[in-house]
Amino acid sequence: MAAAEFGWLGLSFMNSRKERNRPAKTESIVTAGSVERFTPGTVTAVPVGQFYLACLGDGSFLALSRTCTHLGCSVPWDEEKNKFVCPCHGSTFSLTGEVLTAPAPRPLDTYPVRIENGIVKVDTSVTQKRERFEPAQATRI
Ligand code: FES
Repeated sequence: MAAAEFGWLGLSFMNSRKERNRPAKTESIVTAGSVERFTPGTVTAVPVGQFYLACLGDGSFLALSRTCTHLGCSVPWDEEKNKFVCPCHGSTFSLTGEVLTAPAPRPLDTYPVRIENGIVKVDTSVTQKRERFEPAQATRI
């Protein structure tokens, strides 16, 4: 019995050390630019954060992952076609990241956007998965 208790105490001690050594999840804020810089109805690549900032027709913002939700290829924005086109298997996504053409199973993931003193900031430490676009997902001034 004492050996079992000693073993349990040892494991507890080791687990608590693991928790202490695990890095805390921290915000990773990327400044995309001033609100005026973005024209409604456009998509801007933000290379430093590896995301796209979509400025929707009403001036609200969505930060979109550039990773395809099918098998993870990087999805470029096609300005002429006005949509994201995945080069791997042909999925396409709208300005809001919604699937227009399969095989992608769901919209592009998003990151939280906030606007502080007229500056658009994106937290790339939090990936938000979604089943569809809803206007409440966009951040307004
Ligand atoms: S990885 Fe994009 S369609 Fe397959």
